[in-house]
Amino acid sequence: MDASQQKFREDVDSWETVMFLYNSAIKEVGTKLEILNDEFVHIHKYNPIEYIKSRIKTPESIVKKLKRNGYESSIQNMVDHVKDIAGIRLVCSFTSDIYQLAEMIGRQNDLTVLSVKDYIKHPKSSGYKSFHMIVTVPIFLSDRVVDTKVEIQIRTIAMDFWASLEHKIYYKFEGNAPDYISRDLQACAEIVSNLDAKMLQLNEAVLRAKLSQEEDSGDSE
Ligand code: GTP
Ligand code: MG
Repeated sequence: MDASQQKFREDVDSWETVMFLYNSAIKEVGTKLEILNDEFVHIHKYNPIEYIKSRIKTPESIVKKLKRNGYESSIQNMVDHVKDIAGIRLVCSFTSDIYQLAEMIGRQNDLTVLSVKDYIKHPKSSGYKSFHMIVTVPIFLSDRVVDTKVEIQIRTIAMDFWASLEHKIYYKFEGNAPDYISRDLQACAEIVSNLDAKMLQLNEAVLRAKLSQEEDSGDSE
């Protein structure tokens, strides 16, 4: 085997190791979040997470992102600079669930929160809303422990609906959507935010009504 073949073999090996780590990290964090949700159901009879989606970034989008940010394509650069290779999305019913989940995640001793971006308090100019956390989770291999990054996105069903459709439209225009479409999308984001606010109010009203019903039936005993 000549030197270039040897180098290629080593690169393939380390690519496979790195991808193995990201896959393991998704499994670890995914299970932790499911357990948190189950415990919440057990104690409060309420599930903060409607559903969980996860994905590994494709090699094409890893290379694209490195290029966009001015880095050469190398495994070291991707590990150091691409923080969303492993991604988990938590979709919940209400905005209040988002902050509750974020706090629960922050309290997990074996997760380290590297950064937080609150695009709910500070939406993007596109209209995008979501709560993002970059965390690391230790992956225990037979001979070492590797802290591995995972991007967690937390959003409501309504925010997820908007983001999924906006993503599709954005791709159709390859990032150059005509102005009136961007404006319509921003207007839709506004409608989605109003819907979220209404649903939250409705939920609070339901909880209050249930509580007073329980108190009333308690009085009559
Ligand atoms: P990316 O290169 O897009 O990953 O951006 P970043 O590393 O600066 O992080 P940021 O927190 O801005 O965005 C991370 C992820 O959030 C993206 O990969 C998308 O999944 C999502 N996202 C951010 N902005 C938008 C948006 O305007 N529309 C949609 N649909 N998704 C978005
Ligand atoms: Mg991304």
